[in-house]
Amino acid sequence: MPDEGPIHVGLIYGGRSPEHEVSIDSARNVFEELTQSARHRVTPIRIDRRGRWHVEPPEAAAWHDHSSGAPEGAGHASRRALLAPAGEDAEVLPGSPDGTAALEPLALDVAFPLLHGPNGEDGRVQGLLHTLDLPYVGPDVLGSALCMDKDVAKRLLRDADLPVVPFRVLHYYGGEPLSFDEVADALGVPFFVKPANAGSSVGTAKVETEPAYAPAVRSAFAFDNKVLLETAIDGREIECAVIGNQEAPRVAGPGEIVSEDTFYTYEAKYDEELDAAHMEVPADLPGGVPDRARSLAERAYRLAACEGLARVDFFFTEEDGRHDLLLNEINTIPGFTERSMFPVMWEDAGLPAGELAAELIRLALERHERDARLKMTP
Ligand SMILES: Nc1ncnc2c1ncn2[C@@H]1O[C@H](COP(=O)(O)OP(=O)(O)O)[C@@H](O)[C@H]1O
Ligand SMILES: [Mg+2]
Repeated sequence: MPDEGPIHVGLIYGGRSPEHEVSIDSARNVFEELTQSARHRVTPIRIDRRGRWHVEPPEAAAWHDHSSGAPEGAGHASRRALLAPAGEDAEVLPGSPDGTAALEPLALDVAFPLLHGPNGEDGRVQGLLHTLDLPYVGPDVLGSALCMDKDVAKRLLRDADLPVVPFRVLHYYGGEPLSFDEVADALGVPFFVKPANAGSSVGTAKVETEPAYAPAVRSAFAFDNKVLLETAIDGREIECAVIGNQEAPRVAGPGEIVSEDTFYTYEAKYDEELDAAHMEVPADLPGGVPDRARSLAERAYRLAACEGLARVDFFFTEEDGRHDLLLNEINTIPGFTERSMFPVMWEDAGLPAGELAAELIRLALERHERDARLKMTP
């Protein structure tokens, strides 16, 4: 961590994930916010769809998905890179475009993994950064992995008596296959089918009839080896934005996502032209509900070992004057796209996007310093 001069941030994006393109969108926004301030120097580090790392020239970072068509990395000055221990410090080491030059450390102060979904949000990249002793934004391995796995996360929350949606699990190896009638008996109809480890509604379907069940399960298994079946909740989708390390989480929101699609699908989330969803910040909710949502969000955040940031999502239901909040999921690297709620909730809470990004970096450095005090000898 430099005493003077800007903090050198490695902004890691793309990734071997179905949410590759969403990540590029998020990273472009965070790059713009961070580079507004002289406090930061940002090096874009792109992970392509095959998992190869590239250091991009900041002035000409390719903020689009050039993996389709021309071979990746071709035709611009990005350099292949590898993450490895180098000398005293662990480092990202870019090579030259033709691969001939000696590897030279980037000298990063902090990494900002802005990767959504598997292989980025699930602890795998966090484990690599942790092993290299490089400070990084967002939860450590445990929090990242357990929040990514909706089955594990829900069991943990349920064990702490936090309200979750009733669910069942299917495994790729068969285990106990559940017929449509068995699911209908256990969870009711309609019900949701989704991969346990995915995001952005990828592979997710609402099943209303028996013929739709098998294809929905097949689509979900295309993305993961474990599939969740859940009671379909007829409610509103509200979200809280949390930042902070374990000792002092701060909560913004709740905001509400209003989707005009059958549910909050991938298209409703990101398709600008379709424009099938909008955000209400703050959410218009009955008295007492926002406080309860914030308090549940904080408890879930701590319980799920989150640090840095996370977005905690709920369903809000109202029936005969009785209302209820159910936890849906925790996202440890929430979207920062133009259509994403996390930065909007913080803006509404008085923390504009530039300051939010700077605060996330400060939290990463603070956490790293805290953990550096842990003894490594008995
Ligand atoms: N049990 C459920 N009841 C009602 N809607 C659901 C349910 N599960 C998922 N959905 C809908 O699908 C969307 C995506 O599911 P979610 O569990 O949030 O996974 P992810 O956002 O990680 O893909 C939700 O925002 C919601 O619109
Ligand atoms: Mg979600």
